[in-house]
Amino acid sequence: MADLNHLIAEAAQDFAACNDVPALENAKAKFLGKSGALTEALKGLGKLTAEERPAAGAAINVVKQAVEQALNDRRDSILAAAQAKQLASETIDVALPARAQSAGGLHPVTLTLRRVEALFHSIGFSVADGPEIETDFYNFTALNIPDNHPARAMHDTFYVDSGNDSMEHVLRTHTSPVQVHYMENNTPPLKIIAPGRVYRVDSDATHSPMFHQVEGLWVDEQISFANLKGVVQDFLQKFFERDDLTVRFRPSFFPFTEPSAEMDMSWNGGWLEIGGCGMVHPEVLKHVNIDSEKYRGFAFGLGVERLAMLRYGVNDLRHFFNNDLRFLQQFIK
Ligand code: FA5
Repeated sequence: MADLNHLIAEAAQDFAACNDVPALENAKAKFLGKSGALTEALKGLGKLTAEERPAAGAAINVVKQAVEQALNDRRDSILAAAQAKQLASETIDVALPARAQSAGGLHPVTLTLRRVEALFHSIGFSVADGPEIETDFYNFTALNIPDNHPARAMHDTFYVDSGNDSMEHVLRTHTSPVQVHYMENNTPPLKIIAPGRVYRVDSDATHSPMFHQVEGLWVDEQISFANLKGVVQDFLQKFFERDDLTVRFRPSFFPFTEPSAEMDMSWNGGWLEIGGCGMVHPEVLKHVNIDSEKYRGFAFGLGVERLAMLRYGVNDLRHFFNNDLRFLQQFIK
């Protein structure tokens, strides 16, 4: 059998020429691969006599182990060199100051809602809630806006595809349906606000497809329009921290109140509309089985973003929903 010792020097030389692990694995094939020199030599043992075979086998194994050792040594040195290079290039400066942790803050609309809730709570209103996906009945019909009534056109409604469901659903266009839910489940006297998200197909600097309203409802035996004026004016003066702030009630129309008014507040020498209001319509009370001979009530709906824009001096409502941190960070205390 041919002397295989020269393979040890040859392998050492080939392996030394390799500078990365994939190249080394390629170089290994010539010696230890399926058709490598040592694998072939081992296959050749079969042709030797039984007496020759042990010594020849042992000699091949000595060479094989030496080649494997050379391979492992070279692999270790390649990996060690790569690690040393990485350590040199990725030095960590432990003296650098740590990155500041940002605590975050509440959204200006949330801050406004909390302020509204706290102020109404202080004069005895509790907070009620209702679904954002409403049936057509609660959003319109129960509020005295029957099918095909022109007042439906005042709200640019998102209709929800209800599939086979016979009831038509909408994304509520105002918080007024909460009045109906609440009056169905509670008996007078009733004194609530209902803050929440509402939706309309509407988008410009002062209108957003999703915005917030706060509904107010006070039903009792002796409630009058004068109470409505007092509550709204008192709330706005406290909200804006201005005792000289006055509120103007401009006659208007809502099918669910009679009489109805738009509320404007004095601002920088002019008037600004902030919501609608009125005395709850007897038809609405009839829908929820409240005796309109005995009970009367007022209701109002305020635009929350409008309040936030005025309080914080924001001139475009869309800033609230663009998620620009430069805008939002100004509200972190
Ligand atoms: C209503 O939605 C009535 N439900 C209010 C009401 C309640 C009347 C109870 C009587 C009794 P109106 O459509 O005017 O009314 O909306 C009320 C306020 O919501 C507006 O004054 C305005 O401040 C705000 N608003 C309306 N549309 C948008 C919009 N697309 N984006 C932002 N704010 C809006």
